[in-house]
Amino acid sequence: MPPPPLHIGPLRLSTNLLLAPIAGYCDLAFRTVCREFGGLGLACTDLLSPQGLLRGTATSLDLAKTNDFDKPVGMQLYGSDPEIMAQGARWAVEHGATVVDINMGCPVDKVTKKDGGSKLLTDLSRAVGVAERVARELEKMPLSAEEWAKRLGDARFGTGAAVRGGANVPLTCKIRLCWHTSDFESGAACSPHLARMLADVGVCAVTVHGRTTEDKFAGNVRLEGIARVVEAVDGRIPIIGNGDVREPEDARRMVAFTGCAGVMIGRGALSTPWVFRDTWSLLVDGVTPPAPSEAEIIAMIRRFFVLMQGQRDDRYALFQISRRVSWFAKRLGIQPDGKRVGVKPFKEAVRLARHPEEIHAALDRYLDGGLRTWDSEPEAAGAL
Ligand SMILES: Cc1cc2nc3c(=O)[nH]c(=O)nc-3n(C[C@H](O)[C@H](O)[C@H](O)COP(=O)(O)O)c2cc1C
Repeated sequence: MPPPPLHIGPLRLSTNLLLAPIAGYCDLAFRTVCREFGGLGLACTDLLSPQGLLRGTATSLDLAKTNDFDKPVGMQLYGSDPEIMAQGARWAVEHGATVVDINMGCPVDKVTKKDGGSKLLTDLSRAVGVAERVARELEKMPLSAEEWAKRLGDARFGTGAAVRGGANVPLTCKIRLCWHTSDFESGAACSPHLARMLADVGVCAVTVHGRTTEDKFAGNVRLEGIARVVEAVDGRIPIIGNGDVREPEDARRMVAFTGCAGVMIGRGALSTPWVFRDTWSLLVDGVTPPAPSEAEIIAMIRRFFVLMQGQRDDRYALFQISRRVSWFAKRLGIQPDGKRVGVKPFKEAVRLARHPEEIHAALDRYLDGGLRTWDSEPEAAGAL
C-alpha cells in the first residue's frame, strides 16, 4: 500500500520524502542534484538568520538562493524574537519560499546562546509564541494561483505537487525530542506536548529529529520518541520523522515503527543523492531501483561542481568539492560482485585540484579506470 500523500497545510507534496537542512551542505547546487534524481517531495534551505536576510548580508542571501527548478522549497529561519522571525518569514515569502520552517532543534552553541534552535525546547511558551506570531504574519500574505504555480516546481520532476488556491505559505517547525536525555528517559520529553501546542497555533507540520539536544548526533535515533509525538498529535497535523535514514529500508522501518507521515533525510543524501528516488520506489512499489552506474555517479559529481561554479565561482566550487568528495565517493568503487576497490587516489586528486580542469581530469581518469587501488580500503564515513 503506498503511503497516503503528505499534506502540509494547503500544500500536497509529490512524495512524502524531504531533504533535511544541513548547514554548509544542502545548498542550491546540492538540492538541484537531489531533485534531478527524483523522489524528493520538499527540500529546505539551511538555517537562515532573519536579521541577515533583512540586512541583506551576502552570506544570508547566498544561503537563501533558490530558482524555479528548486521548488517546492522550505526556507528555515532560526531565532527567538517573534517580531524579527515574523519579518524574516515575510522576507522568505517575498523571495520564493513554498514553506517557512522554524528551527527548534539546532544544538550548536552559537544558536542556542541566543535562545534559538533547540533552546526553544526549554521555554515552550516562547517557542509557541514565536510560531504563533510567524503563522499570523504568513496568513496576511496569501499567494495568487499564478504565484503558487511557480512554487510547486517542475511537474517533470515531481508527480504533481498541488495547492489549494488563495492559500498562504504554510509554517512548519523542526524540533528534537527535548533538551535533557533524562527527561526523555523518564517519559517527560516536551516534544509531544509542544507538537500539540504548535498545531493549535497554526503550524501545519512538525519534523521530529529523534534525538535529544544532549544527544547531539551520538547514538541511534530514538524511534519511540518520534512515535510518541505522532500519537500525541493524533492525526491533526503530519509528523515527519528524521534521523539515521541511510537506506530506503531505514525509512520503511521508521514509518512502520512510528506511524510518521513523512521522512526527512539528511546525511544519507550526502553520499546518496538518489536515496529519495530509491526510497520512494520502495515505499510505493516495494522495490529499489538498480544503483546508478559509476558513470552516472561521476556525472552527478561533475554536475554538482559545474552548478557550484555557476552559482558562485571557481574557487568556492573547488573548496566545496574537496570537502564533499568523501561523501560523494562513498558509493563509488563497488564492483558488480559487491567487492570494493579503493578510491582514495581519486579523492586525493579531487582534493589537490587547484583549477577546474584538474577536477574534470580526475573525473575523466576515474571513468577511464584510473585513480583507484585494487586492494580494498575501509571507506571513511565522512566528516559529519
Ligand atoms: C553538519 C550538520 C548541520 C546541520 N544543520 C542543520 C540546520 O541548518 N537546520 C536543521 O534544522 N538541522 C540541521 N542539522 C540536523 C539535520 O537536519 C538532521 O536533523 C540530522 O542530521 C539527523 O538526520 P540524518 O541522520 O538524516 O542526517 C544539521 C546536521 C548536521 C550533521
